[in-house]
Amino acid sequence: MQFFIDTANIEAIKKYNAWGVVNGVTTNPSLIAKEGSNLATKVKEIAKIVKGPISVETLSNDLEGMLNEARHYTTWSSNIVIKLPCSENGLKACYKLSNEGIAVNMTLVFSTAQFLLAAKAGAKLISPFIGRLDDIGEDGMSMIKELTEINKHYDLKTKIVVASIRHPRHVIEAAKLGAHIATIPPDVLEKMIKHPLTDNGIEKFLKDWEKAQNNQL
Ligand code: E4P
Repeated sequence: MQFFIDTANIEAIKKYNAWGVVNGVTTNPSLIAKEGSNLATKVKEIAKIVKGPISVETLSNDLEGMLNEARHYTTWSSNIVIKLPCSENGLKACYKLSNEGIAVNMTLVFSTAQFLLAAKAGAKLISPFIGRLDDIGEDGMSMIKELTEINKHYDLKTKIVVASIRHPRHVIEAAKLGAHIATIPPDVLEKMIKHPLTDNGIEKFLKDWEKAQNNQL
């Protein structure tokens, strides 16, 4: 399973990239806005750190606007993937851009039906949002179960990017189902490394070692 980091925060990207676990980056307008800087500047900065796919979302809702933004974003770095919303115009833009050889990440996917349409329209990556479904009382992971089942029957060219991840259990369940990628926010990566028994273990090993050294004196 590949891990993308779901943030536009440069310090976080550098930190987790140094852990050796970052295969790519996903951003969205909210994440970029949180960093309070210009989109192009931020994306170019990220591209200097991570060589894997960097998803950048269009802001237009009309087809022409989406296409223009997408073509412009791809001039920033060779690893830019265009994030498009799973709307009617998003699908049309996905089809057109994919035929031009531009990689698309279809985002804001909340149903298996939307996944099927995005896959047929040529999306290289598709991002089903599980946390936001959980937030409204639905079971986001059951959608991932359906998608991974469907994936077994066909030679789909698309990869499932499990998105809107809220906690480590989401990542584990998605891995058990064989989802290709999880895009993980920094706070969840932080929770994934932490275990009280690891911390206690490190402390105890050190104490025992120091005790033995003092006894030898
Ligand atoms: C995915 O690409 C999105 O950026 C992200 O996972 C959205 O997550 P949220 O529901 O926590 O905003």
